[in-house]
Amino acid sequence: MMPHTPSSVVKPASGEGVMPMLISRDGTDSHNISADVVWERVSAESRFKRLYRYQQQAFKNRLEIGWDDIVRPLSLLYGERDDFADCVTRFVMIAADAFAIRPKALQDLDQRRILQPDWISRPDRTGYIAYTDRFAGDLNGVVDKIPYLNELDINLLHLMPLLKPRDGANDGGYAVADYRAIDPHLGTMADFEHLTEQLRANDISLMIDFVCNHTADDHEWAQRARAGEKAYQDYYFMFSERTLPDQYEQTLRIIFPESKQGNFIFDESSQKWVWSTFYPYQWDLNYHNPQVFIEMLDAMLYLANKGVEILRMDAVAFMWKEMGTSCESLPQAHALLQAFRALTKLVAPGLLLLAEAILSPKDVVPYFGVGAAAGKECELAYHNSLMVLLWSALAERNVRLLTHSLQQLPEMPDNTAWITYVRCHDDIGWAITDENAGALGLNGFWHRSFLSDFYSGQFDGSFARGAVFQYNPENQDRRISGACASLAGLELAIEKHSRYEAELAIGRILLIHNLICAYGGIPLIYMGDELGMLNDYTFQNDPEHADDNRWLHRPKMDWNLAALRNEPHHFAGRIFCSLQQIIAARRGCAALHAQATATPVWTHNDQVFGLLRHSPRGRLLILANFSERMQFIERARLNALGFHGNLFDRLTAQPIQGWRYLYMAPYQVFWLEQA
Ligand code: GLC
Repeated sequence: MMPHTPSSVVKPASGEGVMPMLISRDGTDSHNISADVVWERVSAESRFKRLYRYQQQAFKNRLEIGWDDIVRPLSLLYGERDDFADCVTRFVMIAADAFAIRPKALQDLDQRRILQPDWISRPDRTGYIAYTDRFAGDLNGVVDKIPYLNELDINLLHLMPLLKPRDGANDGGYAVADYRAIDPHLGTMADFEHLTEQLRANDISLMIDFVCNHTADDHEWAQRARAGEKAYQDYYFMFSERTLPDQYEQTLRIIFPESKQGNFIFDESSQKWVWSTFYPYQWDLNYHNPQVFIEMLDAMLYLANKGVEILRMDAVAFMWKEMGTSCESLPQAHALLQAFRALTKLVAPGLLLLAEAILSPKDVVPYFGVGAAAGKECELAYHNSLMVLLWSALAERNVRLLTHSLQQLPEMPDNTAWITYVRCHDDIGWAITDENAGALGLNGFWHRSFLSDFYSGQFDGSFARGAVFQYNPENQDRRISGACASLAGLELAIEKHSRYEAELAIGRILLIHNLICAYGGIPLIYMGDELGMLNDYTFQNDPEHADDNRWLHRPKMDWNLAALRNEPHHFAGRIFCSLQQIIAARRGCAALHAQATATPVWTHNDQVFGLLRHSPRGRLLILANFSERMQFIERARLNALGFHGNLFDRLTAQPIQGWRYLYMAPYQVFWLEQA
C-alpha cells in the first residue's frame, strides 16, 4: 500500500491531486486569524450594513462567543492550507448572508429555544416519521393531517427525503439532485414554507433529511463533473485509474453488498472511477475541498431559513476519507459536523442536528461531541442499540443482553438526547457486539444469526414475518426488513385467526413502544406502527422498488385502518389508544426528562427488564415483562432498589397490590413510583 498522504497536502481532491492545495510551506501561522478581523470584513458588507445596530450586535456576539467552536474543528479540516484564514472568513460570510435574511418568525423561535435549552429533553416531545407522499399525498396533504398528529400529541415530525431527487431510482429520495428545490411530486418551496408555518402554529417541529455525504449523479455538480469541468470533478472523488481506488478498497466495508461489488463505480461519460459508498447513482462528496463545505453550509442555512428546525445529517460516518483507514467516523467527520453546527448557530441558534450514525453506542456517543466539543456536535442521535436490543429480548424472552449492553453505555453531554425508536424506514442490522454477547456466555455471531433466522421467520416457532436484507456472503451478515407489527407477530396471528396470538403481538408492540417512551430522549413513532400496519408486499410489483425489500415496511398509510383508531375491539384501536395513554402519562412525568439518568437494573427475573430513571426531578422504576407468561418480582428486590412501602403505577394511576410479590401479566409494563 502507498504511504498515506495527509489530506491537507495535495490529496485527493480528484484522485489526480490537481486541486490547488496550499500548505503553509513557509511555516507561517495560518491560524493567525481572530473574530475581530472576520467581524470587520463581515460588517463592511453592504447587505449587513443595512441591518439594525442591534441585529449587527447580535451576530457579533454569536461570532465572538462561538469563535473557538468554529475555529477548532476547521483547523483540523483545513488548518494546513495557506488560505485557511480566507476559508474561515468565507464560511462566516455565508452565515452572515443567511443571518441577514432570517425571517422574523424564525428569529422568535430561536429566542424561545435559547430560553428553553432543554426543549428536546423534556418528556413532552414525541416524534413521528413519515414519507410525505405515502402519508398524505403531498405537502398540502400533510397540512390537512395535522389534526391526526395532534391526536397522538406529536410535536416533532420527520418527513422523509423531500428535496428534489434524481429521476428514476433514487434510494427513497436519498439521492438529491437539488438541495434548494422540493420534489415536484410533493409540491413547491412555497408549499413547504406554508407547511412549516402551519406546523409551527401547532408547536410541531419539522425535521428533514440533509443528505450530506453524497449527491445524486444527476445533480448539477455531478453533471458538470461528468462533462469534464475540473472544478466540479474536485467536488467528488474521481480517478482515471484503478490504482488509488484499489488501495482505498483494502480497508473499506461494503455497505450494499447486493447492489455492487465495491465502493467505486465507473462513469462512462467522464471515463473515471467515482467513489460511491451506497447505490451507484449516489456520488460521495469530497469535503477535502472547502468549496464543498461552503456549498453544503449554504444549503443547510437555506433550509433553516425556510423553517426546518432539525436537520437529520444522513450517513455522517462516511463524510471524510483517508487512505489506509475504514473511512468511517474519522476525527475529521466529527470536525465537519462540529463546524457545521458552530456556523449554523450564528444564524439559527435554534437549529439542531441529528447524527444518522447507525453504530454501536461507543461509536455513536462521540457524535454528541467529546472533550472541548462535548455537547457541540450533534444534539441528537439515534439509539440504534436500544432498538436492536429490544427486538433481541423479544425473540429470546430474556432481558440479560438488553440489561448488560445498556449498562455499558458511555455518558452523554448535557442538552443532547437520544432519538429512541423501534422501527424506521431502514433495515435492522444486529449491532450486538461479540464483547457484550460474550460477557453473558453467548456467541455474538450465532446470536446475530439466530436473530436473522427468527425475524425472517425461518426459526421454528418464530412469531415474526420479515425478510433478509442485503445478505453479505463474506461475513454471513443478514439484516432484516419488516414492519413492526409483522415482526412482532400480528401478521402471523391474523393469518392463523388466533385471537390469543394477536393479543400477544399487541402486547409486544406496546411493550417496545412503551420502553422507547420511558427510556429518555425523543421517541419517534414510525408511520403506521401506531395502528399495527403490516408488511406491504406490493413493492415487488414496482420496478423502482422491487430490488430493495426495505419497501416491505414503507407502506402507504391505511386511512381506512386509521378510521378504526378509536375502536376498542380492533387491534388498530387497541394500539392507537394505548399509545395515546403512554404519551399522556409520559408528558406529565418529570422523572422521564432525558437528563435523568437511565440505569438498567437487574430485577432478579431474567424475563423482566428493569430501568431506573433517577434525578432531582424524581425517581421512577420501569419494569417490563418480555415474556408471554405471568412473571413476578419479589418486593424485597424492589426494596433493595429503593422502592419501599406503597407503590403506585404512573401509567395506570393505580396503586400496586401484593406485599410479597409484584405480579406482571404477559408483556405488562409498570412505571413504579413511591406513593
Ligand atoms: C441512510 C438512510 C438510508 C440510505 C442511506 C444512503 O442510511 O437512512 O435509507 O439508503 O443513508 O443515503
